[in-house]
Amino acid sequence: MTPPETGFPAFEDRIMAAVLGVLGMRRGPRTRRDPLPVVTLSWAQSASGAIAREDGTPLLLSGPESMTLTHRLRAAHDAILVGIQTVLNDDPLLSVRLLPSPPPPPQPQPAVLDSHLRFPPGARLLARQDRKPWIFHSEASGEKADALQERGARLFRVSRGPGGLDLYEVLQSLGAAGISSLMVEGGGRVLRAFMSAGFAEQVVVTVSPSTVHGMPGPDLPGLVESLTEAYGADSVTWGTLNP
Ligand SMILES: NC(=O)c1ccc[n+]([C@@H]2O[C@H](COP(=O)([O-])OP(=O)(O)OC[C@H]3O[C@@H](n4cnc5c(N)ncnc54)[C@H](OP(=O)(O)O)[C@@H]3O)[C@@H](O)[C@H]2O)c1
Repeated sequence: MTPPETGFPAFEDRIMAAVLGVLGMRRGPRTRRDPLPVVTLSWAQSASGAIAREDGTPLLLSGPESMTLTHRLRAAHDAILVGIQTVLNDDPLLSVRLLPSPPPPPQPQPAVLDSHLRFPPGARLLARQDRKPWIFHSEASGEKADALQERGARLFRVSRGPGGLDLYEVLQSLGAAGISSLMVEGGGRVLRAFMSAGFAEQVVVTVSPSTVHGMPGPDLPGLVESLTEAYGADSVTWGTLNP
């Protein structure tokens, strides 16, 4: 059977088909009771393994082709999660923008791990009209919480352990709120935390030819199945993780 014409390059479709295969190609609530979302970890790194400059300022690591892939990946997930340090350093929008035709609404839900509610009231995520961020934290209610809620953020209070917020509780809350697929975009601490907790089913890693050094990304773990495609000057590896 001829595959459907997507208008994207075949190598990109192969990566997307692998990702969607793991997601079960479904967005929207799953039927199992209290399911945890399926988790995809995705990041871009230099050939020397850096995901940001040493001082935390962003590195432009993805070429135009792999940037489009990132936005297709975002569109395939119900929610996108980052750590608070990424919000503080990069002020991301976490929306789907770089596609030739806009995806049908709703946009994926932005979510942030932020134990102490350091979320800046002027962050671009709070200025989005379509989707206000969900913020996972462990603070008692108070002024900071009130200010963020007034700006439209939805706050989820979860337990905190030595490594940060309890990721199982975070995933449970997301599942209960109707999220069945989660893309974790970074930064390094959050990616490593999901990986070492064993909560991720798959990874998509873009490697640029740049040899710049800086803040190291996670080590790519042993992959059960994998696929690597050349993307312009970048290469993209998809793989599944041990259950
Ligand atoms: N190249 C890429 O693909 C890419 C993508 C995204 C970001 N980045 C870069 O990554 C850098 C930030 O990375 P980062 O590692 O410093 O910070 P991060 O992963 O963005 O955020 C880490 C923070 O999240 C909070 N957190 C809460 N619960 C956590 C848990 N269970 N596990 C881990 N963190 C938890 C902690 O702060 P609290 O204790 O305050 O809660 C922690 O310090 C930025 O400079 C950004 O440019 C790169």
